Amino acid sequence: MNNETIQRAKDHFGRIVEEQLKRIEGMKNAQDWVNYSQVKPIIIGILGGDGIGPFIAAESRKIMEFLLQDEIKSGKIEIRNIEGLTIENRAKHNKSVPDDVLEEIKKCHITLKGPTTTPRKGDPWPNIESCNVALRRYLDLFANVRPVKVPSEGIDWMFFRENTEGAYVMGSRGIQVTDDLAVDFKVITKQGAERIIRMAFEYAKKNNIKKVTIVTKANVIKTSDGLFLDTGYRIAQEYPEIECDDWYIDIMTAKLIDPKRRTQFKVMVLPNLYGDILTDEAAEFQGGVGTAGSANIGKQYAMFEAIHGSAPRMVKEGRAQYADPGSMIKAASMLIDHLGYKEHHNKLEMAIDICANYEKKYVMTGRDTGATGAEYAQYLMDTMQDPNLKERWERFVKG
Ligand code: IPM
Ligand code: MG
Repeated sequence: MNNETIQRAKDHFGRIVEEQLKRIEGMKNAQDWVNYSQVKPIIIGILGGDGIGPFIAAESRKIMEFLLQDEIKSGKIEIRNIEGLTIENRAKHNKSVPDDVLEEIKKCHITLKGPTTTPRKGDPWPNIESCNVALRRYLDLFANVRPVKVPSEGIDWMFFRENTEGAYVMGSRGIQVTDDLAVDFKVITKQGAERIIRMAFEYAKKNNIKKVTIVTKANVIKTSDGLFLDTGYRIAQEYPEIECDDWYIDIMTAKLIDPKRRTQFKVMVLPNLYGDILTDEAAEFQGGVGTAGSANIGKQYAMFEAIHGSAPRMVKEGRAQYADPGSMIKAASMLIDHLGYKEHHNKLEMAIDICANYEKKYVMTGRDTGATGAEYAQYLMDTMQDPNLKERWERFVKG
């Protein structure tokens, strides 16, 4: 055995432990939640991203400007585009988020982000870290909140995926000890687990939901998942009116496809990688990841994103204007809700329901056989302007 090799691995691990202990100090001293009612202007940054991103971002911006027109006029809200979060620019700087782009992002309170390319081995790009993952960490966006709803099936789930630790935080920091040995690290901290679990319970409490489910693999990943699970049950004691149970990720994945069992789940809280996988499965019931919005929430910043890919082929084939802006508009709707504009949010949700699920006057096919993103956005805005919007929506929902 080569002592030098072992020492190098030990040093690497030592640095990781040091960094993580520092991160814990940061969490302990974190500022409290930003209070948007006291911020003026609230700055919303739009990051187009790659491929179809800028096209669907432009439609999402129109929807936000339509709904928030009074707030924009009064100076309460400002919307701006942020350039440069493209794979070309990221590759040029060999950075998942170039410094000047990050600086612009940090000037905004909240961002709406289009899809971005995640390089992987074999791509023409340098194998830099996913900018989603990097941004979540840089802005400490610890909660990945993903709703999935299929009313006709009785499915109404809210997932609280931990977003800054687990298998992801060290995802680009593993160590190839020798040609034969590769080691990655998974990290759970008490503070990190506490804040996401508390958020899940607070959400349940606020929405009068009587059950929270913790998902881990603590029977096998005993130390880190064990800490997450113990933390979950400890926090559950503060909420005696809410039932708390736990499932292992494997059987949970199975139970989601059991129509008799899956409706019992309401609010789920889980470490990063399990949350990544389970939320893709869950979204499939509602029509796939293209229909799902996703919120990345921290105490100071929040980022809302579409969770599908950037579809470079659509751009290459000249079809980008036919890309469906639906999931990014859904993300914009979550953003508006997060800022506290309940009425605007409800209006947009009803219009989305009518236009995408029921009436479907314009259907997107991704090519010239269907509507363009701009036509669809206009359809949404026309629908929101209908003085009988609520009645129209209720007619559809009640069938
Ligand atoms: C998601 C995505 C990202 C993730 C990828 C693009 C890095 O799958 O938001 O779920 O793994 O978190
Ligand atoms: Mg994912």
